[in-house]
Amino acid sequence: MHWTTRVGVLLCGGLPAAAVAGADSGPGGGNGPGHGQPTTIYRDVVIIGGGASGSYSAVRLREDFNVSVVLVEQDERLGGHVNTFTDPSTGRSFDAGVQNWIDLPGSGVRQFFTRLGVATQPNVRSVLDQVYVDFTTGRKLPNYTPPPNNLRVEALQRYVTAAEQFLPILEPGWWTFPPPSQIPSDLFLPFRDFVKKYNLTAGVPGIFATTGFGMHDMMGGLTLWFMRSFNVNIARVLLGTESSFVPVSRRNQEIYDNILTLLGPSDVLLSSTVVSAQRSASKKGGVTLQVRNSKTGKTTKIVAKKILFTPVPSDQNMAPFDLDKEEKKTLSTFDYSASFVGVISHPSLPLNASILNTPSAAQPANWPAAVPESPYNTRFENYPNSTYFRVIAVGDQTLTEKKAKKLITDALGKMIKAGTLPKTKPAEDAKFHLFMPHGLVSAYASEKALKGGFIQKLQSLQGPKNTWYTGASWGVHLTTNLWVFTDTVLPKLVASL
Ligand SMILES: Cc1cc2nc3c(=O)[nH]c(=O)nc-3n(C[C@H](O)[C@H](O)[C@H](O)COP(=O)(O)OP(=O)(O)OC[C@H]3O[C@@H](n4cnc5c(N)ncnc54)[C@H](O)[C@@H]3O)c2cc1C
Ligand SMILES: *[C@@H]1O[C@H](CO)[C@@H](O)[C@H](O)[C@H]1NC(C)=O
Ligand SMILES: *[C@@H]1O[C@H](CO)[C@@H](O)[C@H](O)[C@H]1NC(C)=O
Ligand SMILES: *[C@@H]1O[C@H](CO)[C@@H](O)[C@H](O)[C@H]1NC(C)=O
Ligand SMILES: *[C@@H]1O[C@H](CO)[C@@H](O)[C@H](O)[C@H]1NC(C)=O
Repeated sequence: MHWTTRVGVLLCGGLPAAAVAGADSGPGGGNGPGHGQPTTIYRDVVIIGGGASGSYSAVRLREDFNVSVVLVEQDERLGGHVNTFTDPSTGRSFDAGVQNWIDLPGSGVRQFFTRLGVATQPNVRSVLDQVYVDFTTGRKLPNYTPPPNNLRVEALQRYVTAAEQFLPILEPGWWTFPPPSQIPSDLFLPFRDFVKKYNLTAGVPGIFATTGFGMHDMMGGLTLWFMRSFNVNIARVLLGTESSFVPVSRRNQEIYDNILTLLGPSDVLLSSTVVSAQRSASKKGGVTLQVRNSKTGKTTKIVAKKILFTPVPSDQNMAPFDLDKEEKKTLSTFDYSASFVGVISHPSLPLNASILNTPSAAQPANWPAAVPESPYNTRFENYPNSTYFRVIAVGDQTLTEKKAKKLITDALGKMIKAGTLPKTKPAEDAKFHLFMPHGLVSAYASEKALKGGFIQKLQSLQGPKNTWYTGASWGVHLTTNLWVFTDTVLPKLVASL
């Protein structure tokens, strides 16, 4: 390969790039050794983002495809949307972000945990008292009747049957998505209308309770995007025909810590972001990135054959990547929700209970109205045998961390004021033990964009300029579904090396 030869020459040793593990500040750096000069790393693939898809890709590429990698993660840990809080006094862990993983039949995802030394067990569901409160008033709903179980199950079954017909074009990625004129019209229905068409109303509260972590307009958004969040597999888990699992440690961060250990410090750059990038249009030219460590201020140069980009392709994340006009236009077509998760405590909050944000209009059994208006906090949910509560704030892209926290303390304050909760301390005294922005989530685009060939334009970005993509904006945004999707990208990427 010409490209490899060129790198070999640069390194003076004629070694293939993959054999040059670890950083070096030799001739490849361009300016010779010396203080303050950038270190240069040579790899086959530079992976941006060490969340669910990036961490998985790094292990698979290096260990299974024998491809050299370096993983660039802005945070000081791997794991992305996994947010584990560990109680300093008891050592017990509480997961505020990702809760559990779907054991997709025949996919081998659970064995991936075993391989990383993480013992797993079936997900344990805790039994909590459900309390229905309208967070805009702080009052309990006196007449609300949640859907009876048999109706809920029937509705979910109807959803599975309806959604299954779209699986061949929706999963695992967009590879077989039809041209605009052949997109099934059901996928353009606002989910509210899909619910009417398929008689799914009794399923809505349960669907919201599982999907409400990341969609600011679940009922108004297009069914196409809804199926990216609440897919057939998650519906089957609720029906008990598929299962989900958790680590025996009950500490979801465990697998990502083990991935970090496996990869080692020379293949992972934590606390690091890309400052600038040159992506050649030719295979020979490869890519060159400048990456900066926010803690040390140190800059590292990465010379690689390919980029695998995994975070949301937002304007901010893409800014350092010399995008051309067409790439910029396509990626900025995406819109997003924003979500925040936290672990809080406050003496007024009831133990063994989950307080669900349920609008007054949902009474007595108006289930489609059981979804609060954006922005909202979904609930205060007690972690069993503790005084900690899980909170989740969701809004559109404009929801800031400050506003998200205020949503939570305002809801608490209203419940205390309305007498729903006992008066103890002011709501503002709620302790946030952990509060993590998930940033932009649940990518979506308009019907107009879809009819203008958005998916085809998006797909055309896979490969050119030595750039490949995976991550939540490209597939169903559930971890193990994303791994299955990523497994369709990696062989294409490797074949292009
Ligand atoms: C509240 C909540 C709960 C969820 N619960 C579950 C669950 O129980 N089970 C499940 O399967 N899925 C769950 N999900 C979905 C899950 O988050 C996704 O499946 C998965 O995390 C998405 O993986 P990803 O790799 O696309 O993104 P992420 O996991 O978000 O990873 C992206 C990574 O890139 C890093 N990054 C971002 N920008 C840059 C940059 N410019 N430079 C360098 N690094 C960058 C981020 O720090 C992050 O580590 C949940 C999501 C939310 C919001
Ligand atoms: C892995 O790649 C290296 C470098 O290209 C090569 O020397 C080695 O033989 C490969 N190993 C396997 C098992 O393919
Ligand atoms: C719609 O669902 C409800 C309850 O889930 C059921 O009683 C009713 O028969 C269904 N209607 C149709 C037309 O299938
Ligand atoms: C919560 O549940 C636990 C275990 O079931 C029980 O021991 C405890 O008394 C309950 N606490 C309250 C306040 O109901
Ligand atoms: C909480 O305590 C109860 C009673 O001691 C126990 O049965 C249960 O397993 C505990 N739950 C958790 C999640 O620790």
